[in-house]
Amino acid sequence: MNQDTFASRLIEWYEYHKRDLPWRHTNDPYHIWLSEIILQQTRVKQGLPYYQNFVKAFPTIFDLAAAPEQEVLRLWQGLGYYSRARNMQETAKAIVNQQNGSFPNSYIALVKLKGIGPYTAAAIASFAFKESVAVLDGNVFRVLARLYGLETDIATSKAKTLFSTLANQLISSDSPDLYNQAIMEFGAIQCTHSSPDCLLCPFQQECEAFLTGRQNILPIKSKK
Ligand code: ADE
Repeated sequence: MNQDTFASRLIEWYEYHKRDLPWRHTNDPYHIWLSEIILQQTRVKQGLPYYQNFVKAFPTIFDLAAAPEQEVLRLWQGLGYYSRARNMQETAKAIVNQQNGSFPNSYIALVKLKGIGPYTAAAIASFAFKESVAVLDGNVFRVLARLYGLETDIATSKAKTLFSTLANQLISSDSPDLYNQAIMEFGAIQCTHSSPDCLLCPFQQECEAFLTGRQNILPIKSKK
């Protein structure tokens, strides 16, 4: 299967199966950032009302930067990992004070910000600015490990390099935003951790894991 076939079939799957989520209807990098930080250690269902409350309370990065920290933490209550909220507000202040509130618009600039790692930088750069940079999260590791039958331990830095290279070859340069949403959604609802729906999978004929009966052992991840 060539890379265009993979990307277009994946996006076709996505258009049909995707969940309707509010952060998928915006190009505002600030709103996208907010959603990605909330979703880092939180399930979509739990994170959704927090996202809505945050956007309502702080519609712009200026509002977040100017808010009392207590108010930010109060809205974060129940999500845990409070450093996420503190880092976010610190970065909001830096963007407001140093860049007049204009959000950095490239992966390389985003990844330098406090609280924004490679995953979040790729998500913001692709969703808000259509930069062709692949996201790499647990879903992407799982989908690619199965599709290509890769047995490299995904907890290793070797795997990060390998999967990142592969993911950046597969991404659609025409629609990097849709492609990234699609591969994560595919991992979240079709190619799931413990009960992948292989019988209705659009890649059944190409998936190394399915063809060799290894969908339940891939990806391989050692305990850290
Ligand atoms: N989890 C992390 N980012 C997500 C996104 N953009 N959509 C759905 N789930 C996610």
